[in-house]
Order: sequence, then C-alpha cells, then structure tokens
Amino acid sequence: MTKPVLEIIIGSTRPGRVGGAIATWFYNLAVADDRFDVELVDLAEVNLPIFNEPNHPIQGNYEFDHTKAWSATVSRADAFVFVVPEYNHSFNAATKNALDYLHHEWRYKPVGIVSYGGAVMGTRSAQHLKPVFSALKLVHAGDVSIPLVTTPVVDGVFAGNDVLANAARNLLNELDFVTPSLRQLRVDR
Ligand SMILES: Cc1cc2nc3c(=O)[nH]c(=O)nc-3n(C[C@H](O)[C@H](O)[C@H](O)COP(=O)(O)O)c2cc1C
Repeated sequence: MTKPVLEIIIGSTRPGRVGGAIATWFYNLAVADDRFDVELVDLAEVNLPIFNEPNHPIQGNYEFDHTKAWSATVSRADAFVFVVPEYNHSFNAATKNALDYLHHEWRYKPVGIVSYGGAVMGTRSAQHLKPVFSALKLVHAGDVSIPLVTTPVVDGVFAGNDVLANAARNLLNELDFVTPSLRQLRVDR
C-alpha cells in the first residue's frame, strides 16, 4: 500500500522569511520518520492572487488556472502541516487566502500546525487558525510551538532542539494515527 501524502505548507511568503528554514526542519524529521510521502508546498511559489474566483469554492467550479493547479496540489494530500508565522497576533494573510480558495479539497483531512514567533511561540496564530480549519472540516491533530527568541534561525538554518523534535514526533504520531481512518471515511461517503 502506498504511503499517505503529507504536505508541509510554508505559510510565509515574505522575502527573507524564516518560515522556509522551519518547514525544512519539520520536513527532514517527517522524511526520516518514513510514514508519509512528504512534500514541501511553498505558498510563495504557488503565488495565488488575492482570492479572485467568481464562485464560492464549495461549488468547485473554478475559472482560473491558478485555482485549478492549487486544487490539484491540495487534492492529492492525505494530511497537512501548516508552518505559520504570527503576524499581529494572528496568522498571515497568504495562509488565509490559500485556505479560502478551496473547500472540498480540505475536508476530512488531518492537519497539524507548526507555529513560530516571539515569546508566545506563534500560539495566537495557531489558535486563530483552528476555527478556520473547523469551517473547512479539516481535523486538527496537534501543534508544535516554536519560540524564535530561544531557538532562532541562524544563517538560514533552523536546528530546533530535543523538546521541539519530540513535539514534532508527537504530531507525526497523531497524524499517522488518524490519517488512515479519515482516508477511509472520504472513500466511504
Ligand atoms: C507584519 C508582521 C507582524 C508581526 N507580528 C508579530 C506578532 O504579533 N507576534 C510575534 O510573536 N511576532 C510577530 N512578528 C515577528 C515574526 O514572528 C517574525 O518576524 C518571523 O520571522 C515572521 O515569520 P517569517 O520570517 O517566516 O515571515 C511579526 C512580523 C511581521 C513581519
């Protein structure tokens, strides 16, 4: 049986961002873990304009190629991890925009959050993501919360530490636990 596809979504699109380094750290742990086919999805490369589809995404009636391509990317995933910064006590706009573009493609799939920020570790961004996930029937599986103050990105590399690596393993365990059941649920309905 093929391994489920885990997409790690880099939420920050900012030049000079640290999000890419943090996503690479989680990606390497997930690849070494070996329970998922792991893909890095970079919203800077996906490069969606501010939502411009004329129809509600629930209809799945997409006019633009950028939406069709984004739909194909999200459709092939069985699970997600969003790597999100905290901007002004919430998550960043590019992440919300990418979520808003689609509907059915997200439903009944498990999702984890790797948030990062100052002293509060991006937890406000994670807490604001959860009601959005709920609206899209994404099933929250866990969080990793990274304090950049004590574990910064240095020369473009995020090394993490044992505590954060353990939190990442716990998240992968939770994703692994619920992914097969949710995949079956999507087949059955
Ligand atoms: C517009 C903006 C708002 C920010 N607001 C917060 C904040 O509310 N809380 C926080 O902990 N850090 C905040 N920061 C600092 C970010 O956590 C830090 O710049 C981080 O590197 C951003 O992620 P990125 O480099 O991947 O874009 C903010 C940064 C930006 C650019």
